[in-house]
Amino acid sequence: MDKLDELRRQKSEIALGGGAERAEAQHAQNKLTARERLDILFDKDSFVEIDVFVAHRCHNFDMAGKRAPGDGVVSGYGTVDGRLVYAYAQDFTVLGGSLGEYHAEKIVKVQNMALKMGAPIVGLNDSGGARIQEGVNALSGFGKIFYNNTISSGVIPQISVIMGPCAGGAVYSPALTDFVFMVDKTSRMFITGPQVIKTVTGEDISAEELGGAMTHNSVSGVAHFIGEGDRETLLAVRELIGYLPSNNLETAPTVPVNDDPNRLIPEFDAIIPDNPSKGYNIYDIIGKIADDGKIYDVAARYAKNIVTCFIRLNGATVGVVANQPKVAAGCLNINASDKAARFIRRCDAFNIPLLTLVDVPGFLPGVKQETGGIIRHGAKMLYAYCEATVPKVTVILRKAYGGAYIAMCNKELGADLVLAWPSAQIAVMGAEGAANIVFKNEINEAEDPISKRQEMIAEYERMFNNPYRAAEMGYAEDIIEPRATRLRLTGAFKMLESKRQSLPAKKHGNIPL
Ligand code: HXC
Repeated sequence: MDKLDELRRQKSEIALGGGAERAEAQHAQNKLTARERLDILFDKDSFVEIDVFVAHRCHNFDMAGKRAPGDGVVSGYGTVDGRLVYAYAQDFTVLGGSLGEYHAEKIVKVQNMALKMGAPIVGLNDSGGARIQEGVNALSGFGKIFYNNTISSGVIPQISVIMGPCAGGAVYSPALTDFVFMVDKTSRMFITGPQVIKTVTGEDISAEELGGAMTHNSVSGVAHFIGEGDRETLLAVRELIGYLPSNNLETAPTVPVNDDPNRLIPEFDAIIPDNPSKGYNIYDIIGKIADDGKIYDVAARYAKNIVTCFIRLNGATVGVVANQPKVAAGCLNINASDKAARFIRRCDAFNIPLLTLVDVPGFLPGVKQETGGIIRHGAKMLYAYCEATVPKVTVILRKAYGGAYIAMCNKELGADLVLAWPSAQIAVMGAEGAANIVFKNEINEAEDPISKRQEMIAEYERMFNNPYRAAEMGYAEDIIEPRATRLRLTGAFKMLESKRQSLPAKKHGNIPL
């Protein structure tokens, strides 16, 4: 009995982490403790902690004999909607969640288990970074974590949640994972903080502006989701896991659905504005196609001219890449190409079929874009689509011009099925621009250049600004009534379910990074 009491005593002491006072300090900052967070992430009472008794072995400075329950990190496994998931949560109440040798070993162990068992892993980051007293041993720990992040990439979904500080080289573990969540106002990510920047470059910036959730979601693109508090963020993580398979050998789970797969959407017949330069909201279209109107948006605040999101069609996950005509006319630019390429590769790695919705006037013209390397960045998107072997269906809604038409997964990039709405315009460029270039001489030499120009524009529109020429050539398999889009897509993805495609054997491709 004494032995049992001793076990219980030790376990309950460790479960207190850095103690009540430090837990209160967490709460005072609108932050939960590591264990409270894991309770929300996992199904009720399903989390099983491992390595509870692991302790540091550092004798440097004041560390000898210094108590550090769990060495500042709680690790283990449990279920999310009944499915196995691994996790670790850094405990800021213990040595500021700083990462020492054994703290790292605990993370490495759950990473290895997740990889072996083929299950997602979630890392909850809240740490002062490398444990300063442990020196190179802490750095070595980070190196091992980065290595495992990379080896696991494309095998199991890896999700990072930033719930406090995440600074210095520590940021590279989240950066190597598939999805990064940040909690608004209470999380920060930067390589060097405001004080170092002030000293080195003289720039003045607040920590929030430099590395807060909004900055990384809307400006840098480092993070893909922002949550209002710990609870909301962790519930969003649970939801994301529901869209993903457990590993690269499985498909995402299907969910029961009440939404009729053959549901017609009559409002689509008139949703595209007659005026080609008028925008509309692509979310209205995606939402109506999706089961129950549900969209799980990825990187919603970054490069808003392209939308990347998960939906379900007849209960199965589909990844959607869609131009947003409401923002910058839906042009492709550097950031949109990066965002789309990353999303396409996530989907392909995890056997998630891709739906591409096209309304793109082209790549964004501009000196900044050209000198910023739009050629290199745009190429990522082409590359990602070409190498993706998952089912790929493309629907051309309106504009599909030039190189951007190709980049939005046209037939040659491997679309298994291309469907076009009657409003589709598949051409090298818009009719006005084309007429100005190709018929320049006829227009200039005409008696009435203005009406000649209109005539040539109309001629070009008749020729190319419709989907019929492309359909005649087999570049689109069908021109469909917009109202039948959901019906046609649920049917198309069902037909493509058994798709098998392999690429030539190689060590790995050389994506233009
Ligand atoms: C050891 C640390 C620590 C660290 C915090 N603590 N960070 N201990 N190593 N890196 C300890 C503090 O000493 C303190 O202990 C407790 O955690 C809480 O920290 P506070 O400073 O009181 O908390 P707060 O005011 O909220 O500030 C949090 C903080 C700050 C912003 C994270 O602690 C801080 O700036 N820490 C250092 C950050 C840093 O420079 N880390 C190294 C980054 S470089 P006591 O016992 O006093 O309460 C890096 C390289 C990785 O990580 C390279 C990988 C390749």
